[in-house]
Amino acid sequence: MIGAPVNRPVLEGLRLNVPAHVKHQRLVAWVAEIAALTEAADVVWCDGSDAEYDRLSQQLVDAGTLMKLNPELRPHSFLARSSPSDVARVEDRTFICSQHKDDAGPTNNWMPPAEMRALLQTGRPDGTPALFRGAMRGRTMYVVPFSMGPLGSHISHIGVELTDSPYVAVSMRVMTRMGRGALDVLGTDGEFVPCVHTVGAPLQPGQKDVAWPCNDTKYIVHYPETREIWSYGSGYGGNALLGKKCFALRIASTMGRDQGWLAEHMLVLGVTSPQGKKHHVAAAFPSACGKTNFSMLVPPEGYEGWKVTTIGDDIAWIKPGADGRLYAINPEAGYFGVAPGTNYKTNPNCMDSLKHHVIFTNVALTDDGDVWWEGMSDTPPAHLVDWQGKDWTPAIAKETGAKAAHPNARFTVSAIHNPVLDADWDNAAGVPIDAFIFGGRRSTTVPLVTEARNWVEGVYMAATMGSETTAAAAGQQGVVRRDPFAMLPFAGYNMSDYFQHWLDMGQRVQDSGARAPKIYCANWFRKGADGKFVWPGYGENMRVLEWIIGRSEGQASGQENVFGISPRYEDLRWTGLPFTREQFASVIGIDKAAWQQELKLHAELFAQLAHHLPAELPATKAKLERALGG
Ligand code: GTP
Ligand code: SPV
Ligand code: MN
Repeated sequence: MIGAPVNRPVLEGLRLNVPAHVKHQRLVAWVAEIAALTEAADVVWCDGSDAEYDRLSQQLVDAGTLMKLNPELRPHSFLARSSPSDVARVEDRTFICSQHKDDAGPTNNWMPPAEMRALLQTGRPDGTPALFRGAMRGRTMYVVPFSMGPLGSHISHIGVELTDSPYVAVSMRVMTRMGRGALDVLGTDGEFVPCVHTVGAPLQPGQKDVAWPCNDTKYIVHYPETREIWSYGSGYGGNALLGKKCFALRIASTMGRDQGWLAEHMLVLGVTSPQGKKHHVAAAFPSACGKTNFSMLVPPEGYEGWKVTTIGDDIAWIKPGADGRLYAINPEAGYFGVAPGTNYKTNPNCMDSLKHHVIFTNVALTDDGDVWWEGMSDTPPAHLVDWQGKDWTPAIAKETGAKAAHPNARFTVSAIHNPVLDADWDNAAGVPIDAFIFGGRRSTTVPLVTEARNWVEGVYMAATMGSETTAAAAGQQGVVRRDPFAMLPFAGYNMSDYFQHWLDMGQRVQDSGARAPKIYCANWFRKGADGKFVWPGYGENMRVLEWIIGRSEGQASGQENVFGISPRYEDLRWTGLPFTREQFASVIGIDKAAWQQELKLHAELFAQLAHHLPAELPATKAKLERALGG
């Protein structure tokens, strides 16, 4: 019965404002519970319409959170400046609260769920009030229903985020299939992942708000068993847009472990040859290591007739299909991409995606009301307002080193504006994967590309991958750390169990009689003695991609080395690129001493992950050590 009382609870004067089309009583009850806990002043249910987006973005402009950019230069676009303390993911504040510590594993922060719930929800025995108690006082709570993946796909899942940040609500509209459609899929009793988010900045009556409310205390919390997410204190990116890393990677990886699929930090691209043959490649690079760029690659000179198209730029959900092959969907519907370094030479398709309908965060503002960031043009404008709202000139930058844009400045844009969006990007069945690539950011040691000789060796390569840290996470930058599968900050369960799951999935594909994708390890980032990247990267990565798909077709040749198979100079196409044999040797070469050091780091990782570590991995290591000699 429409309008039944249970669907219209009134909470001590707070109306839940449940729209007539919402029929899911468990959802309504949960919204009521969180509204009561957080003492939100009002509740707004998002429908995902254009009118709603326009209303919320205007409200954010009025509040000073968003600035409208010059409509002639950047139509329907906005600039947000975050608090300088809230600019990136906070890995040391991110928790996996499984019942048993072993299930979170040694690479995740852990706290017993009961202890965390006391801290966040119920209050501690010593009387410390719960962080979420009253956290939304004076603010509106938005109910944001969303689908990760095409609406109704058997690979997709629904989430609902309750947030007191309208910036998060509009961003979720861009990043996911948000609104009525997701509620329709939920129906009266569908499953959803509950995601609770507050900026942790309640307002007293009459208190004036700030442009970017947040709290110095931050908690990004996941309960894998009950599949819940609780996020406190940040309004930025992966800390706050809970469909992304929290759901689509941390929670989804545990769903995938239980249900026989994979949730990965991977772009997915289509590559079509001049003969019209299409392949699909999924590639995992750590944060700020080139996924968005690779997913929109423009084939260089010498590759006339080739085409690369984007299925996804950050996350892939991968499931075996009826034929036994692995099929991938992009659970997202938009890109939250790194601005610095993006320009018409490095990533023209991305630049073209950013012409209108974009939310920029922490980039610089030009005097004519447009945006700029380091690397957008060779010559910076003579004057800018930097990401913190301060005057910026090239002279000031020279003197103080101040960046106009924050190194982790980002754009938020819908996938539909990507000129090379793949025709199958929204296909509910996904696309069949032909090859996996794993790539770190390594200025030394790791060759341009190596093919694993079999699935186990590929899992070894991915598991032991190292990468230099970037601005995508708070903390020191440029330090080499192990980042297994580019999932170190994103695995929702024990990393060793995750390795086992990859081994099992490979076995399952092979047992079905289907050909398992080949696995590659890539590194675009080797530097020369002058400190500059030797490999030109970006569009030129097509040369490596062609070799990879050629290999998966059994055509391209290569040479076996200690770690696998790499191309010789003559195995790559060089038309249009002056790149000498010597240069190639310096990016493909294996330095024995460096690798002996590297293997010590693999040993350290395996020691850390010893509990549940699949025996295949140390066995592979022993084999490689023997091949390396000593
Ligand atoms: P997240 O969104 O954090 O997951 O990052 P991402 O993996 O999508 O990285 P993205 O493509 O945004 O690139 C990050 C930075 O690396 C940008 O500054 C790029 O310009 C730079 N970059 C990307 N590809 C290459 C490459 O092939 N070579 C070099 N030298 N730099 C690259
Ligand atoms: C990453 O850090 O890998 C990102 C950005 O894609 S965030 O959404 O902030 O996690
Ligand atoms: Mn990412």
